[in-house]
Amino acid sequence: MKIGIDKMAFASTDQYIDLTELAEKRGVDPNKYTIGIGQDRQAVVPPTQDIVTLGARAAQKLLTPEIARQLSTVIVATESGIDNSKASAIYIKHLLGLDDYVRTVELKEACYSGTAAVQFARGLVTLNPQESVLMIAADIARYGLNTPGEVTQGAGAVAMLISANPHVLAIEPTSVAYSRDVMDFWRPLYATEALVDGKYSTNVYIDFFKNTLARYQQRTGRRLADFAGIAFHLPFTKMGKKALEAVLQGRNDEVANRLRAQLTASQTYSRQVGNLYTGSLYLSLMSLLQNGQVTPGDRLGLFSYGSGAEGEFYSGIVQPGFANYLSDVAHDLAGRRQVTVAEYEQLFNGQLGMREDDVQFDTQADGAPFVLAGQKDHQRIYQRQ
Ligand code: COA
Repeated sequence: MKIGIDKMAFASTDQYIDLTELAEKRGVDPNKYTIGIGQDRQAVVPPTQDIVTLGARAAQKLLTPEIARQLSTVIVATESGIDNSKASAIYIKHLLGLDDYVRTVELKEACYSGTAAVQFARGLVTLNPQESVLMIAADIARYGLNTPGEVTQGAGAVAMLISANPHVLAIEPTSVAYSRDVMDFWRPLYATEALVDGKYSTNVYIDFFKNTLARYQQRTGRRLADFAGIAFHLPFTKMGKKALEAVLQGRNDEVANRLRAQLTASQTYSRQVGNLYTGSLYLSLMSLLQNGQVTPGDRLGLFSYGSGAEGEFYSGIVQPGFANYLSDVAHDLAGRRQVTVAEYEQLFNGQLGMREDDVQFDTQADGAPFVLAGQKDHQRIYQRQ
C-alpha cells in the first residue's frame, strides 16, 4: 500500500522586506545576503500573526468537507510554540472547525520535527488506511535585529495531508534518522530569540547529511543517479548548496549538474520567504515540484535537519497529477506587500512575546483569514475574519 503526501499547501504573512535594502541599512554589501547567503526577501510578521494563524491559513487551503471527515489526527510541528503546555494543534483544530473526535498534538525538535510528524503520520495511516493525518509545520524564525542571524529569519507554514494512495509523493520504506547531543542552536524557556552558533551549525548540518545519505545508500544500494532531485532543509538557500557540494565533491557529470539544477529550483521560494524552520524542507519540496524538472515516477530525496541535533534522509516517488495537489505558492508570494526596514523593525518589536498583561491588537490592517487579536487573562484570543 502506498502512503505519503496527498496534498500540500503553504501560507506566509502578507508583508516582506527586501534584503538588499536591509543590507544597506546594516552597512553590509548586499551581495553577502543575496549571493553569499542566498536570500532575496524575507517574510515580515505583524503582531497579529503567529504559528496558529499561519498554520490554520495553510491547512485551510487543503481542507474539503470530505477530507475533514477522514482526519484522525492533527499534528503541529513547531519550535515557536505559543504555550509550554497546550498544543497549538488544538487552537488550529478549533479555528478550522474540525470535528472534536480528532487527536491533536504538537511535536518539537528544532527544524526536524516536521519530518518526525510525517513519519508518525505514516504509521497512523498504516494502521488505519481509511483515515488521514493533517500535519502542519509552522514557525517564525526569529534571531533578533542587527544579529548575524537576522538575514536568515523568515516565517510561514506548510500543511500536508498524509494518506493512503497519495497524489503527490509516495514515501519509500527506507529512512535513516540520526541524532546527537549538539549545542548548535537552542532557545531557553525565557527567551524569544534563539541562541545560535551559526558556523558550527552549518558544519553539523553537512556532517549529518553525509552520514544519513551514506547509510541510506548502504541500505538501498541506490546512488545519486537514482534521484531526480534532492530537497533540503533550507535555513538559508546557500546551506543546500554547501551540503550538496559536500557529496558531489567537484563532480561535473550529467547527474551532478542535474542535482545542482534541481537544487536551484527547490530554492526559489525560500529565497523569497526565508527560513520556516520545521516547514523549510517542505517548502523546498514544493518549490522543486513546481519549478523543477519533475515527472511522475521520479524519485526525490529529502534531507531534514534540526539543530540540537537530528537529521533524517528519506525518499519518495512522485505521483501522477501531483501538480494539481499543491497550493499556488508563486501567486501568493507575488501578492505580498513590501514594507520598509523601519516598518519591519516596528512590527518585530511589537510581537506579543513573553508579556503577561492584557493586550488588544489592531486587526484591521491584517487581511489574513485568521488573526491573533490579543491576549486577555493570559489567554491568546484568535479570530477568524
Ligand atoms: N559577496 C558575496 N559573498 C559574500 C560577501 C560578498 N560581499 N561577503 C560575504 N560573503 C559570503 C561569505 O564568503 C560566506 O560564504 P561561505 O559560507 O560560502 O563561505 C557567506 O557570504 C556568509 O558570510 P559569513 O561571513 O560567513 O556570514 P556570517 O558570519 O554573518 O554568518 C550565518 C552567516 C548563516 C552563519 C548566520 O546568518 C547565522 O548564524 N544564521 C543562523 C543559523 C543558521 O541558519 N544555521 C544553519 C544550520 S540550521
